[in-house]
Amino acid sequence: MLKLWNQEAADWRLALRTETEGAGSRLSVEADGKTATLWVGLGDAETVTAETVRRAAAKGIKALKGLGAKTVVLDPAAAKTLLEQDGVDAMAQGVALALYRPRSWKTEEQTDMTLYMASVLPSEESNSLTEAICLARDLVNCPANHLVPADLARTMTETARTYGVETEIISAEQARALGMEAFLTVGDSAGHAPCLIVLRYRGGAPDQAPIGLVGKGVTCDTGGYCLKPASSMKGIKGDMAGAAAVFGALLALARNKVPVNATVVIPSVENRIAPDSFIPGDVIGSMSGKTIEIGNTDAEGRLILADAITYALRKEGVGRVLDIATLTGAVVGMFGFTTAGFLCNDEAYCTDFMEAAAVSGEQYWRLPAFDEYRKMIESPVADVSNVSNDGCGTITAGLFLETFTESHPWLHIDIAGTAWVDSPKWEYQTNGATGAAVTTLYHLCKAMAKEA
Ligand code: BES
Ligand code: MN
Ligand code: ZN
Repeated sequence: MLKLWNQEAADWRLALRTETEGAGSRLSVEADGKTATLWVGLGDAETVTAETVRRAAAKGIKALKGLGAKTVVLDPAAAKTLLEQDGVDAMAQGVALALYRPRSWKTEEQTDMTLYMASVLPSEESNSLTEAICLARDLVNCPANHLVPADLARTMTETARTYGVETEIISAEQARALGMEAFLTVGDSAGHAPCLIVLRYRGGAPDQAPIGLVGKGVTCDTGGYCLKPASSMKGIKGDMAGAAAVFGALLALARNKVPVNATVVIPSVENRIAPDSFIPGDVIGSMSGKTIEIGNTDAEGRLILADAITYALRKEGVGRVLDIATLTGAVVGMFGFTTAGFLCNDEAYCTDFMEAAAVSGEQYWRLPAFDEYRKMIESPVADVSNVSNDGCGTITAGLFLETFTESHPWLHIDIAGTAWVDSPKWEYQTNGATGAAVTTLYHLCKAMAKEA
């Protein structure tokens, strides 16, 4: 990725500096003979965090790209003075994420910028996280016709195996034998077969119960018979961003040999229309034994996640469980595209999570789980309904999943707003997938390693 500068000719230098006045991010250029320097302001030295550096570096490199720069030397001096190695890492990460390009099917190739780092390189841990974010972005950006559940399973297991992660793909037939009716109800009528992807990373003590990381892997969500309007269909290939997040985090754990045990469980399906697809009014079973009334076939994520959670608890013996999904449009109404909502039933777990988010720089906000909300998903004919009869779509979707957690410490994250941006909200984002939650989940698991 980044090489140390060997004093070769470069047309630009990108450097950061604090300012005594102004909110930061100001750009200015100084030229001295051969190399021109683009300075990006960091604002007041007192307020600079890794996130400030990430954004400033991203802003600078995007400006240089706009100016047609071919060879750029990144100068991390100011970042290093302020934040030590964390500053160097943040600068490199901001640049790499800002220059990320999804795979293209254009017949003409674009050329990359040549990048050097002056004096000091980013850490291995930082590099592996940057790569994990880009890998998650790649998966989410991939068109649904190039990434059906079997493709997702193959890509993930092949990559994970190279880092010593144990992998298993559970077929539709095996899932049927396990009684995973909620999972199969969504996926089994689609043209491309569903599968459950299991990745086991064992870096911790053999007797330590793994954390269960359950990610929604809907490779395309048409809504099913409750068909989405055409205007809502554009991003439906990205409905596996939860799966991409847990996968990216697990790879980073494995690459850094973090002493923790973690098991990823990904239910992967297409939500499509077929003659025998499920319809509103159906009552189905689930692996847990609980029955579910279908109110809306577009609330498919919680159905497959319910069985994946039961599977993680009963077959994988996980302790803490975490599920993450692009689950509800309602979370976008609440928090927009910058902040993900979460529910948690355990205070220590919640604290660990918020501390991890503070390290990663991502924004999360906890939602309340009042008893009145649980009433909203009661069904007259089944144990639970897959839609709320009284609003509060994000909370009730989470509480639907709580029904299946068997009193384990549980954390539920809705990244429907943050996983995808049509225009960048922070400078280090690019149009499309963001790689949301990869770093926060990594830091959460890493912190748990310290506690164990
Ligand atoms: N995958 C969608 C949620 C979503 C919406 C993700 C917008 C990204 C952007 C999910 O499966 C869904 O369709 N949810 C419904 C639930 C409703 C029918 C209860 C929603 O939010 O509209
Ligand atoms: Mn849906
Ligand atoms: Zn969905």
